[in-house]
Parts: sequence; C-alpha cells; structure tokens
Amino acid sequence: MRTPMIILNMKSYREAEGKLSLVLARTCEKVALETGASIAVCPPMVELSRVALEVSIPVLAQNVDMWDATVRTGSTSLGAVKNAGAIGTLVNHSECRRLLSDIGHIVDSARGMGLTTIVCTNNVAASRAAAALAPDMIAMEPPELIGGDISVTTADPRIVEDTVRAVREAAPGVMVLTGAGVKDGNDVRKALELGTVGVLLASGVVKAKDPGKVLLSLAEGLVGRR
Ligand code: G3P
Repeated sequence: MRTPMIILNMKSYREAEGKLSLVLARTCEKVALETGASIAVCPPMVELSRVALEVSIPVLAQNVDMWDATVRTGSTSLGAVKNAGAIGTLVNHSECRRLLSDIGHIVDSARGMGLTTIVCTNNVAASRAAAALAPDMIAMEPPELIGGDISVTTADPRIVEDTVRAVREAAPGVMVLTGAGVKDGNDVRKALELGTVGVLLASGVVKAKDPGKVLLSLAEGLVGRR
C-alpha cells in the first residue's frame, strides 16, 4: 500500500450493509483516482469478496478470527481473507481485541502468506508492545475518542507523537497510523505533521450525509502535503 494513506473502516454500520459497502468503496476509488490519494477500505466481512472483486483500490479485512487451517464454524481464516481478494487485515481493533500472543501468531502467519497486517492499539505502551511483533503498521486509536466529534489529533496530539516515537524506537520499519474522531482534511494534515503515515477512520465518512465530499477533504489533507 502506498503511503501516506487513508483507511476507511466501514465497521458494521447500517450505512455499509449489503451493496452500500460497494457504493462507499466505489466513492473511495473515485476520490483516490481523482486526487492521487492512497485510499484503502475495510468493508463488512460478509462483503469482503464482492468489494475486493469490484474496486481497484486496496481492500482489507476488518478482522481475522483464526489463522490456522482448522475447521471452526462461523470463523474467518487468513486463507479465506486472502482468497476473498483482500491484501491484508486489521488486527486487534478496539471493538475486537486479541491477546498479545494471538496477535503475534496472526502477524507471523499473515507475513508468511504475503498479507499486510495493521495492528490497532489504544495507547503508547500497547503500541510499543505491538510494534515489537513487526506488523506492517500500527493504528493507534484512543477508545474514548472513537466515534466522537473531536479528532485524536486535536484532543490528544501528544499521544500520537509519543506513539510514533515509541514505535520508531521499538521497530523502526513499522509505520504508524492514527484514528478516532477524524473528520476532515485538517485532521489528516495534523496526523501527518505528528509523524504518522495517515489515518484509520470510520464514522466521519460512513455516517456523513455526503461521503464523497468528506473523502475529498480528507484526500486534500493527504496529498496537499506531498
Ligand atoms: O477503525 C476506525 C475507528 O475505530 C475510528 O472510528 O468513527 O472515530 O472514525 P471513528
């Protein structure tokens, strides 16, 4: 994936159910093509394959339930995610936490399969610990700001800077994203100024009246700095 970047996590919002996830992904694709911004999407798991087949931008899973080729009803394996056309997966999102040992196992297995891992964390210490597992990226999101109106970059810029520093010390090759409350291009610009390679966001786009307009603003915040 090209950095700096914007990753849209559609979560399980009603606004992204069924074909709506494809509509959102196509809007992201259009803005990416028009502006040159690097934009990736994480559609709802049941829509992963449909979206990955239909758009040219990178598609990632929101989660992976298991990582070995054993049979478990209702689970999603790394192999299934790869076969659906995703290039990687979020791991340990705040709304879907994992044990550190399991995160390590997922990251290692995904690397072996050529899948990108973005490990979500909630603070500086967790980011340092997760970075030591050598995922491709860390996405630090303070849980109390998720889904809110104030961007982490405004509410707590210090935690973003400290995370970037801690990850750089622990594992210089691991890139850092931030998220929670991100709504517009200014938030993206600030995230880059604080040392990240971009943002992971959800409600600001998914629940917007005009997602395309918000995406344009986000993309301008991203490419304006190149
Ligand atoms: O995965 C992104 C997310 O947790 C941030 O959500 O709604 O604050 O952009 P939101």
